[in-house]
Amino acid sequence: MARVVLGMIGLGTVGSGVVQLLNQHKHLQLKKIAVRDLDKERLSNPGCPITSDVSEIIDDPEVEVLVEVMGGEEPALSYIKRALAKRKHVVTANKEVLAKHGPSLFQLAREKSVTIFFEASVAGGIPLISTIQRGLGANQFSAVTGILNGTTNFILSNMEEKGLSYDAALAEAQRLGFAESDPSADVDGHDVAYKLSILAALSFQRFVKPADIFREGIRKITPDDLALAKEFGYRIKLVGTARNTRPGDKNGALAVRVHPTLVPLSHPLAAVSGSNNCILVTGDAVGEIIMVGPGAGSLPTASAVVGDIINLESALKLPDFASYFQPSITSEWAATASPGDWISPYFLRLSVADTPGVIGTIGTIFGNHQISIQSIIQRGVIAGRATIVILTHGVVGSDMDAALAELKQCAFLDSVVSAIRIYKPA
Ligand code: NAP
Ligand code: HSE
Repeated sequence: MARVVLGMIGLGTVGSGVVQLLNQHKHLQLKKIAVRDLDKERLSNPGCPITSDVSEIIDDPEVEVLVEVMGGEEPALSYIKRALAKRKHVVTANKEVLAKHGPSLFQLAREKSVTIFFEASVAGGIPLISTIQRGLGANQFSAVTGILNGTTNFILSNMEEKGLSYDAALAEAQRLGFAESDPSADVDGHDVAYKLSILAALSFQRFVKPADIFREGIRKITPDDLALAKEFGYRIKLVGTARNTRPGDKNGALAVRVHPTLVPLSHPLAAVSGSNNCILVTGDAVGEIIMVGPGAGSLPTASAVVGDIINLESALKLPDFASYFQPSITSEWAATASPGDWISPYFLRLSVADTPGVIGTIGTIFGNHQISIQSIIQRGVIAGRATIVILTHGVVGSDMDAALAELKQCAFLDSVVSAIRIYKPA
């Protein structure tokens, strides 16, 4: 079998898994690995030289494929561009670079007749990207939605199931290698926003600027929210969605959002625990399909990276194969729909004074803003203060914002403790 010569940047969680898997594929020759700190103690010998000078890889004419598993925006972006310019194929797990610079990177790859493979950038070990690109290629997609971050799913599951604090659950996710080097990328929803941008590009042919994606993270979710949600028959998950507001129309604005969401306990998303991911893809021909599996971690992610390398290695034997693997993504950024127009039911937790007329006033304010209450309970009266939990029917986002702003003017209200959207099928 012909050998394919690879150079890799990064030997952390993912890079170490790639080295381990490549040991089982000897015809894929890993020639050199670049790292940041040559003096760092490594758990095992990678079986090839290590350097701190990436030029030894990017400028080596024998290296056909750059495997980029270092992460972050810069200098990863510059390294990928230099490799593409030298007509090397790129296999990357870097969702941040793809989400922020996808249009120009795919344009450069087209110009140089090389390919970018990126299965590991979304949903770790789940072969989601190749499924959307190839297996579901006959479909027009209306929505892609799901749990796309292993760290936050691990944190929420462990807070609920094991009673761990947020900090203890995050520390455990970091120890297990799921979390990004800066965990705010996970817990504040940036990581999911990057993944949604990539999924939008594959499903709707247009990347979405990460800054245009509505984003709320999980920092404010408390054990009380999780317990109360469960009482009402829901579990709280960080759910990301990309939806074409005009299915079938290539210019339709995209509604792209990531935020904590109450999911009915009977829904498949509610059953996904730990660092697993779960994605629902809706196509006009196939209907809805669901994919579940490990969304992060060393070997699951390496499985996607090495799978890409093996695909690339088979394709390298074919003439002009690069055009086959170039996704049909336009170089225009997508227009996004305003969050104020979205309709969702809500879960609200209010801290109020336990005085006559409070529930009546809340009902009046909500009624004035076309908000219909589905259920309401009062809990935990302590020292004259009480918690009111409200579940609403579907509400236009701007109506909910206006109602909450009016409520905050009321003397009886201490605070709106939580306002979390409830899952509504895309
Ligand atoms: P990591 O454990 O922090 O490892 C990063 C590696 O890159 C380290 O070996 C580091 O070198 C090296 N590196 C950093 N900056 C460098 C530079 N300027 N020049 C050369 N080498 C440099 O990160 P990771 O978790 O493996 O993640 C890598 C990528 O995979 C990221 O894009 C991440 O988003 C993506 N990803 C990760 C997972 C996961 O579960 N962890 C899953 C899917 C995708 P030193 O070892 O010397 O510090
Ligand atoms: N930090 C990411 C996660 C890695 O927890 O899902 C996988 O992309």
